[in-house]
Amino acid sequence: METFQELLAKKFAGALAKAGLPETGELTLTSDPRFGDYQSNAALILGKQRRENPRGVAAKILTSLDVAELCDPPQVAGAGFINFTLRPEAVTTKAAELLEDQKLGVATTASPNRIVIDFGSPNVAKPMHVGHIRSIVLGDALARIARFLGHEVIRDNHIGDWGTQFGMVIWGWKNLLDQQALARDPLAEIVRIYKETNERSTIDPQIREACRQELVKLQAGDKENLDIWNECVAFSMQDFEHVYELLDIHYDIQCGESFYNNRLPGVVERLLKSGIAEMSEGAVVVFFRDVPALADKPCIIRKNDGGYNYATSDIATVDYRVNDLKADTIWYVVGAPQILHFKQIFEIARRAGYQADFRHITFGSVLGDDRKLMKTRSGENVPLRQLLEEAGARARKIVEEKNPDLIEQEKTEIARKIGIGAVKYADLSQYRMTDYIFSWDKMLALQGNTAPYLQNAYVRIRSIFRKAGEADSCSHGPMAGRAEDAPQGRGYKDSLVLAESAEISLAKRLCQFAEVVPQVLNDFRPNILANYLFELANSFHSFYEACPVLKAPEPTRSSRLVLCELTGRVLERGLDLLGIKVPEKM
Ligand code: ARG
Repeated sequence: METFQELLAKKFAGALAKAGLPETGELTLTSDPRFGDYQSNAALILGKQRRENPRGVAAKILTSLDVAELCDPPQVAGAGFINFTLRPEAVTTKAAELLEDQKLGVATTASPNRIVIDFGSPNVAKPMHVGHIRSIVLGDALARIARFLGHEVIRDNHIGDWGTQFGMVIWGWKNLLDQQALARDPLAEIVRIYKETNERSTIDPQIREACRQELVKLQAGDKENLDIWNECVAFSMQDFEHVYELLDIHYDIQCGESFYNNRLPGVVERLLKSGIAEMSEGAVVVFFRDVPALADKPCIIRKNDGGYNYATSDIATVDYRVNDLKADTIWYVVGAPQILHFKQIFEIARRAGYQADFRHITFGSVLGDDRKLMKTRSGENVPLRQLLEEAGARARKIVEEKNPDLIEQEKTEIARKIGIGAVKYADLSQYRMTDYIFSWDKMLALQGNTAPYLQNAYVRIRSIFRKAGEADSCSHGPMAGRAEDAPQGRGYKDSLVLAESAEISLAKRLCQFAEVVPQVLNDFRPNILANYLFELANSFHSFYEACPVLKAPEPTRSSRLVLCELTGRVLERGLDLLGIKVPEKM
């Protein structure tokens, strides 16, 4: 099914060809309904290029353009824009088609990729904090959207479970561990010993050396150290799993850094052999002398003590993803501090001949009220688990106020959907590169561009259907219960009649869903989808205020119920693509 944008763009390209003009410009949604629904800037560009009056060029294009099936006669506006206003009949037909389509008009990609998405990827022996939310939520939304568009997606949690920090953790474990504290809150105790060892080793060279020895022993396969390491990883994983459960995050594979450990010597050897890496002062190094941005930023892949590092394991990871997982695309959803690291890795991968599209998808920071990195009152990172639990508790108060009669379990479930949804949406509705201030009040508000506002629009629709079901249960009306329960072949086409301008605007918005979803992946911007859903909810509220649904006479009533149904489905699906659930009541 083609979108209006595609249909118009195709016809427009045909008209340009017919008029002997080159294809140029863009056909986009207008920002203001006064200019119609879609707009082309082609005549402006062509006029400039050919030193002709753009309005004249526009008139010429229009003589070759036949869009009568879709639009009112196109208008030339301003300096030479061509504006298109969809005809209600065309909108009605398209909206009816959407109802028959599982994917609500969103086309499956013609060129499916096999994409590994590396997101979340926390470090063992450090608790997940609020800073991790962006990678998790953004990566999850991108994975959902890519999959919905027909790509093959492998979600990979590249856990930091190997590396220098373990020398300290193991030394701390052997020298500082408090067994009782470990039994009470294992991760907190591991973090404590790690931090304390870290502090001590910076002032005491003997401890620093002892930590290094522990690391060497671990990497050589020492049984005692491996056991400690295993135990620490397991405790951390428990904490991560808890967060993933709260956030409803699932991974296809969790290949942490340790997974690549035995591949590292081979990686270094191959890079040395192929001349990509060279020996330098006892270390193995890749220089990028011909890449201006990296010319003075060599990358060490084996230290002079023989140890490997983060970069080495990332090269092994590229090899595994391309050669074993057969990925042709790899997205790294990792914060901006690692830009240099990934530039180096991608350049090495390119030189080594790995055929894949590599993207580092970065994002800004989560700030506190003071506009500095969000911290607890005592200056610590805010643990993610605690934050998510607070989200549920705060949302519960809202449910309590709005709907005190719900049973306890229902309240808890709804609160979880609202609380977690609010945290995710606050993040995804921002352009990923902007820093944002974490504000409970803002994200949980029932008004404005928030998850609860969108969830509330959905709930309103569900309650219309509950009432319709009651009203229709004696008359067996066509829209009793959910429309998808309606008898087969009932034909939405016939029940949809759009007359009021609020109905037409809402239906147009619904048709735009299929145009918006693929756009998200152009620059990895789920906020485009979030903003669309917000506008959709606004259109729905305008419709709901202007057009009575259940009290309207037939056939208007059925038609409006169909519009409600479609709005509900688009809201539900759109939020699902952002990883946000909708409650039936709230
Ligand atoms: N564990 C790393 C960190 O927390 C992120 C890992 C990102 N993925 C990767 N392949 N390097 O900083």
